[in-house]
Order: sequence, then structure tokens, then C-alpha cells
Amino acid sequence: MSFWKSLKKPFFVMAPMADVTDVAFRSLVAKRGKPDVFWTEFVSADGLYHTREIAKMRDANPTSLGSSEGHGNPLMRDLVIGEGQRPIVAQIFSNKPEMIAYAVKLVAELGFDGVDINMGCPDRSVEKQGAGAALVKNPKLAVELIRAAQEASSLPVSVKTRVGYHKESLDEWLTALLEAAPAAITLHLRTRKEMSLVPADWDLMKKAVEIRDRVNPNVLLIGNGDVETIEQGRRLAGETGCDGIMIGRGMFGNPWVFEGLTRLNLENSDLRFNLVSSSEHGLDEKLEALIELAHGFEQISPPKSFAILKKHIKAFVTGFDGASNLRARLMQAESADEIEKIVLLTKI
Ligand SMILES: Cc1cc2nc3c(=O)[nH]c(=O)nc-3n(C[C@H](O)[C@H](O)[C@H](O)COP(=O)(O)O)c2cc1C
Repeated sequence: MSFWKSLKKPFFVMAPMADVTDVAFRSLVAKRGKPDVFWTEFVSADGLYHTREIAKMRDANPTSLGSSEGHGNPLMRDLVIGEGQRPIVAQIFSNKPEMIAYAVKLVAELGFDGVDINMGCPDRSVEKQGAGAALVKNPKLAVELIRAAQEASSLPVSVKTRVGYHKESLDEWLTALLEAAPAAITLHLRTRKEMSLVPADWDLMKKAVEIRDRVNPNVLLIGNGDVETIEQGRRLAGETGCDGIMIGRGMFGNPWVFEGLTRLNLENSDLRFNLVSSSEHGLDEKLEALIELAHGFEQISPPKSFAILKKHIKAFVTGFDGASNLRARLMQAESADEIEKIVLLTKI
């Protein structure tokens, strides 16, 4: 049975975030309070195909192309599943049904619990390929991609998208997606044009729920945009009728954001939330988390640029006396050990 069917509502999920929700960051969150569903960063289905095919050719003919040994595939490193990180959904993108099918089969072999197709990314390089948010303008192709994913394996297929391209177009866009019957649809409650420049429009979730109830009540709807706490998400789910809430930037500097869900794993979903007071985590805990993240990040193979950690440094080291000074020094660090040393010296 698809894991989606066993989630208690409203459920809370981790947003897929490029250069954020890698295996190290997911581990940090998993230890401090698990979301109901983990998500990877997005991965190019075309990229997966090409890098794996090249690696196969290298292995078959090491002298002319060089051996793939020791290189490691940077895209495959984004598809590593860490301990305690389940259920987990791999997010992929492409505008080609055959590439989506290829990536879904791979993701199924790797043991993922579900696969998500990105249809909301506004990044130019992604849109230029006709993928990500560009698909909002091409519902026919979007439906073909979903069908290709559904036929490629038995994994549940979900979609993450926006409410429209230039303007809200839920009647046409959401209806087309619902007719393809994915297991779940996440709606980032902004248009492509709005990027993240205006507040998410949660009133639109009520409209989306009405359309869903009419067109395909079996599809789960997940709301996304500007949610910072479980309490806020729970209120929004109650007001709009969506089944789940996705939190992205609310995880920055706060890997505890989902802890209210796991402290008490009670049967009754209301009690799951009510008996947990939102807790504050102090500076010591935040710095510890940053050090742990930096060490976990260094284990990722092949390595990623250490500069990626800067956004986490900014998020963890803020809001206390001396924060800007410490932040400035941490920004110069080039290894986890250096981060640790700087933090320890600061405490003395
Ligand atoms: C740094 C960053 C990376 C992101 N990467 C992805 C991604 O890989 N796939 C995706 O579907 N959305 C991505 N998003 C969008 C988020 O998943 C989410 O939809 C958006 O941040 C709004 O939710 P929030 O207000 O809870 O952050 C990214 C957002 C940020 C800020």
C-alpha cells in the first residue's frame, strides 16, 4: 500500500530544496523531530540518464574514456537515503516522458518510497528545458510525464507545482493534474511570476480543495508557502481543508520545526499536536546543530562545495549578542573542524 494512505491528517512534510535538503540536513532534522515525509533535493532525470550511461561506457571501455572508478556520480549522491529518513520521496525533473520513466525506475531500485515530479521550479536553466514551472503552460505534456512515471514502477507518483504561471489558473491546471490521478499534489500558493516575492495566497487552497473534491477526491492536496510552525500549519489546514502542509524555509536554522509531531506518536491526530508546546532552542543547541551539520556535510561523496553551508551559518547564527561577529568568522571556515574550533573559541 502507498505510504500516502497511512498518513494521519493534517500531515507535515519537508519541502524539497536544492542545496539544502541533502542527506546531511535530512539527518539533522530526522534526529530532532521527523516530518511525516522526507523529500530529496530535485535531481535532473536527463542528467541521471546521461551520467549513468557515460559511466557504463567508461566501465566497458576504461582505456579510451578513462575509468569511472573514484569519480562518483554527483547526481547519485543526491539520492542517498540516510538512517531514519523514511518515508522518503525523490524529486526529479524533465520534460521528456522517457527520461522521467528512466529516473523513476532508478529511484524505485534505490528503495525510495515515492517519486515527485517538479512542475514549479522557476530557475531559468530548468525552464529552458521545458521542465519545472514551464510545464504549467503545457498541461498536456505534464499529464504525459505523470503517466510515464506511473507506468514505470509501482511507486506512488506526486507532483509539486504552483497555482499558475502569469496568473492563477487552477481551474485548467489543477483539473488537468487531478485527471492524471497522482497520489498527491503539493501547491506552492504563488504563481511562477510571483516567484517568492509576495505572501503565499492561502485563500487559493480553498478553491483548490473544491476543485479536487469535484474532479478527483482520491488525490491528497498539500499546501505550501510561508509556514513556519506546526501550529500555523495546523490552523491553515483546518481553514482550507488541505490534507497536508509542506515546510521549506521554516527549517532554516530550525531543524526542530517538526518535533511536535514525533514527541508524542499518539493515535489521535489532535492529541499529537495539543500535548506539545512549541519549544525554544537555545544558542548552544543551535551551534551544536551547525557543527553536526558541517561534519555530516563533509561525509557527502563526491564532496559538495563548502560554500553551500553559508546559508545554514546565516540561519543558525543570528539573533544574539555577538552573532554578526561570530557569523563573519564562520563564513571564512573551510572545514567542519574549523567551524567547530571557531565555535569553541567563542565560548571560552
Ligand atoms: C534554497 C531553495 C531551494 C529550493 N529547491 C527546490 C527544489 O529543489 N524543488 C522544489 O520543488 N522546490 C524547491 N524550492 C521551493 C520550496 O520547496 C518551497 O516551495 C518554497 O520555498 C516555499 O515554501 P516555504 O515558504 O515553506 O519556504 C526551493 C526553495 C529554496 C528557498
